[in-house]
Formats: sequence, C-alpha cells, structure tokens
Amino acid sequence: MGDDSIHAVSGGKIPVIIDCDPGHDDAIALMLAFGCGRLDVLGVTTVAGNTTGENAYRNARAVLAHIGAEDVPVARGADGPILRSLHTSRDVHGESGLVGITVPPGLREWGMNAVEFLSSTLRKSETRIVLVPTGPLTNIAIAFLAFPDIKEKVGRIVLMGGAAGQGNVTPSSEYNIYADPEAARIVFRSGVPITMIGLDATHKALVYPSEVEEMRKTGAVGALAARLMDFYSLAYRARGFEGTPVHDALAVAAVFDDEVVETRYAHVDVETCGELTAGRTVVDFRSAGGKVPNAKVAVGVDRERFLGHLMGALAALEGANPA
Ligand code: BDR
Ligand code: CA
Repeated sequence: MGDDSIHAVSGGKIPVIIDCDPGHDDAIALMLAFGCGRLDVLGVTTVAGNTTGENAYRNARAVLAHIGAEDVPVARGADGPILRSLHTSRDVHGESGLVGITVPPGLREWGMNAVEFLSSTLRKSETRIVLVPTGPLTNIAIAFLAFPDIKEKVGRIVLMGGAAGQGNVTPSSEYNIYADPEAARIVFRSGVPITMIGLDATHKALVYPSEVEEMRKTGAVGALAARLMDFYSLAYRARGFEGTPVHDALAVAAVFDDEVVETRYAHVDVETCGELTAGRTVVDFRSAGGKVPNAKVAVGVDRERFLGHLMGALAALEGANPA
C-alpha cells in the first residue's frame, strides 16, 4: 500500500488525478493544479455532487479549455451517490454548477468512464499516483470496489471533505461526505493513506474581497477566477463569512506543499445512518484508547502561503481565450 511520506515523482512533478464536481472552488482548484508547475495532471474525472453529472463533466472541460489544458483527458463518472439521491449545492454554485463561466462551443467529447480511466491509468503507471477528490467520493469508492488491486498504485489520497468540528450542510456533516456517506466510508476504510482537508482548515483558508480584486489583475485566467469568486462569494457573504473559503484549492495545495496545512494523525470513519449525524466524519485524535490512525487531518492553515500559491498559479496561466 502507498506510503504518504513518499511522493511519487514523474519528471520532477507529482502525478495526480483530480476527481471533481465543478463547482466554483473545484474550478479554482483545477487552475491551481495546472498553474502551480508542481503537478503532472494525468487526467480529470468528474462526479455528480455540486451539480448534475452532465453539468460537472461540461464544466470541467470548460475550465480546461479556458486555461489551455483541453488536451488533458476528462472522464465522466457517477451521476449520483451509490445508495442515495443526488443532493446538489445549487444554493452555492447556481443552476449550472459554475455560474460565471462561458462554455466554449465544441468542447471535446472524450467518451471515457471515470472508473475505467482511474483503473487503467493506475494499473499502467510505473509510479504511484496521488488522487485528489474534491467532490463526493462515489467514483473512488466504486473504483476501489471494482478493481481492488489499484489501491496499491495510489500513493495517497488528498481529499477535500469532512470536519472534526462543525459541518456545513448539517451541524455534523460537510457537503462532500454528506452527499455520499457510503462511498466516503469505503474510501476511509480502504487502507490507502489519506490526508483529509476538511472544514477545520478550509474555513481558515479565506480569500477576502480585496484579494479577489488582485486576482482579477493577474491576467485572463485570474479575471475568470475572480468572476467565479464574485458569484461563489455571495453564498458565503449570506452565511456571515467576511472572506470566502476556496475549499478544494486547499486540497490541491496540500499535495505539493506539506507546510500549507498543519495536520494531526487520527482515525477517521464515516457515520452512514445517524438520524442527526449521517455524513459525519468521526475523527478520533486520541493517541491512547483510539484506533490506529488511517488519516492525517488538517487542523490549521498557513493562509498567506496558500494565497501565494493561488496568485502565482493564476498569473502563470496565460489562458487560451476560447471563443
Ligand atoms: C465542498 O462542497 C462543495 O460545495 C465544494 O465544492 C467543496 O468541495 C465544501 O463543503
Ligand atoms: Ca467540490
């Protein structure tokens, strides 16, 4: 099984697959992944979550087209959770899932399934790959159940999801875990090393309005990111936040920079049937009496460092000016 202290490196870059449900912060996470210069993004898989499976697949390809990464494969995955009905986040991300982006005409149709892409890419890889899920864990769970051998090829999973403290969909539960708790349980019990970037950290990784204005000046991609932030921030303003948490981008930053988050080892499992607590990540930090840790849980963030990575990546992406 993978060792999370070893980063598999291809050509000096860490090979990753990003599994996402764009989603505004997913879109900015993709920009960071492609612009940071530290990751080799082998592909993007999409999953229903913030929006429908169809929208997530379209939105991911639209983002890649805007940042000149349209040749990177995008594979469409699950259209809903394993057992439950789809619970989208239209209140945060709007009807399309990514209000603020223009969808260029003629987006490439890849015709690939996410689970097949994950399994074939992992199997043929000579180095371990880091999986970066920023949506519900449906695709990853299905892939692990269908092709258990691929777990050996996963270096670690750095996921956005969960909370040791307060949730955001319910008092107990964070959205990505709440949306498909059965999938999350399968992944947390998989034996693959996990870094959990949950709300305990992401709610401290805020981007303030003046910083969105700086973003807007970094170039074409920065201007798009700022436009996305304009819409995405509305939901957080309404919830009393002064800045906006760009949750998913923090998970990407944590893949290439160990210093951007402070982590603690913990045993994490997922509540699937609590009447009030379904989707809760049950985080056990106890070193005595607790179970053997299966995850590193982010508890703090170096916000300035995170922001530096984000601004640098946006400036580095020149954009493709799609029609
Ligand atoms: C998570 O839920 C979604 O709304 C965001 O994209 C992020 O992945 C935050 O709880
Ligand atoms: Ca997301």
